[in-house]
Amino acid sequence: MNILILGSGGREHALAWAVMQNPKCDKLIVAPGNGGIALIADCAKIDIEDGATVANFVSENAIDFVIIGPEAPLAAGVADRLREAGILVFGPSEAAAELEASKSFTKEICDAAKAPTAAYGHFNDPQAAKAYIREQGAPIVVKADGLAAGKGVIVAMDEQTALDAIDDMFGGAFGGAGAEVVIEEFMEGEEASFFILCDGKSALPIGTAQDHKRVGEGDTGLNTGGMGAYSPAPVLSDEIAQKALDEIIQPTIDEMARRGTPYQGVLYAGLMIKDGQPRLVEYNVRFGDPECQVLMMRLGAQALDLLQAAAEERLAEARVNWADDHAITVVMAANGYPGSYEKGSVIKGLDTLPEDSMNMVFHAGTTEKDGAMTATGGRVLNVTARGASLQEARDRAYAMVEAIDWPGGFYRRDIGWRAL
Ligand code: AMP
Ligand code: GLY
Repeated sequence: MNILILGSGGREHALAWAVMQNPKCDKLIVAPGNGGIALIADCAKIDIEDGATVANFVSENAIDFVIIGPEAPLAAGVADRLREAGILVFGPSEAAAELEASKSFTKEICDAAKAPTAAYGHFNDPQAAKAYIREQGAPIVVKADGLAAGKGVIVAMDEQTALDAIDDMFGGAFGGAGAEVVIEEFMEGEEASFFILCDGKSALPIGTAQDHKRVGEGDTGLNTGGMGAYSPAPVLSDEIAQKALDEIIQPTIDEMARRGTPYQGVLYAGLMIKDGQPRLVEYNVRFGDPECQVLMMRLGAQALDLLQAAAEERLAEARVNWADDHAITVVMAANGYPGSYEKGSVIKGLDTLPEDSMNMVFHAGTTEKDGAMTATGGRVLNVTARGASLQEARDRAYAMVEAIDWPGGFYRRDIGWRAL
């Protein structure tokens, strides 16, 4: 089977690594890929947000299966263009990707599906939004309706912060994404992520994870794309996961099918858990990054079979072969991230590290230049390990981090602290 993966992050490196473990894979191309992916697969520079370009590339390269990593090509309808051309693809349609692209759409689906989530109001007028905030009081959560690169959510602990957020959003701070807002009840509890494969009808859970969004140790400082993650998430017990499946996930899949926009791909549910009850915070229509790295480390070669079963609407007969293991990933980021950071610093020591089913360094933002691996992104490396316990996995991951010689980068020393 010839496979094409779209994307260029640590998530796509982890997907590529898992796909390559499966003997079914004859050829793998990643577009556009990165310096680490280029060590294990061919990389191709094409415009991955243009469906026609991707469809042409697929036929020219005799690709049998396309796996879409990031949300941008999904929101741009690339999966639709490929399906129209008769190409097997993993990833939701543009209409189904609304579950991530529009917060108000997701709230509407939750209403129809009777899925537990925060109470909310949806506004396209700043005065009405402010009146609602004054009526509800703080703490309260203000969200730009559209895609805002993970920055469109303000958790306001006081009323003034919420009112200011309305001015910012309607003032154009998030471009078109802020022309409509969702205002939500503040939910207390512990957050965890639940990953479920969907084929339009059936749901197959493939793991739980927790990430560390803040840049600083002790979960302090600015928000980032994620500084580390581990799987499984202890707070998402089998019982709570089943509850989430029965009350939130399956009703969402059923409602999407009922509307004629069935959901195929991975559903990444952000859940808030309190007193044994999960409530939906948000959906993403793709794997989390860096959560995907720990999931792939645990699933290994079977990941390809499972993604293919989702794309071929065969999930009802698919099974996950679980190992009773743990995985962790530590993000190494360029000094200055998530603010402005330097590009082009050289990373040494990578070739001394083990690369096997227990230890992998996934690259998120690297390019090979004149024989040296150089940093080109904010989040640069995802040092990932698996073990019989979280502690064992963590010790192994940090031993690898310490063997990497990169003065241009930094990392958090406390990934997994909550679970340990
Ligand atoms: P979202 O992009 O919707 O996941 O929001 C980003 C983060 O804001 C979430 O991961 C939560 O930590 C927080 N958040 C969002 N909505 C709520 C809510 N209703 N109550 C409490 N925290 C929230
Ligand atoms: N790590 C969070 C995300 O991928 O959205």
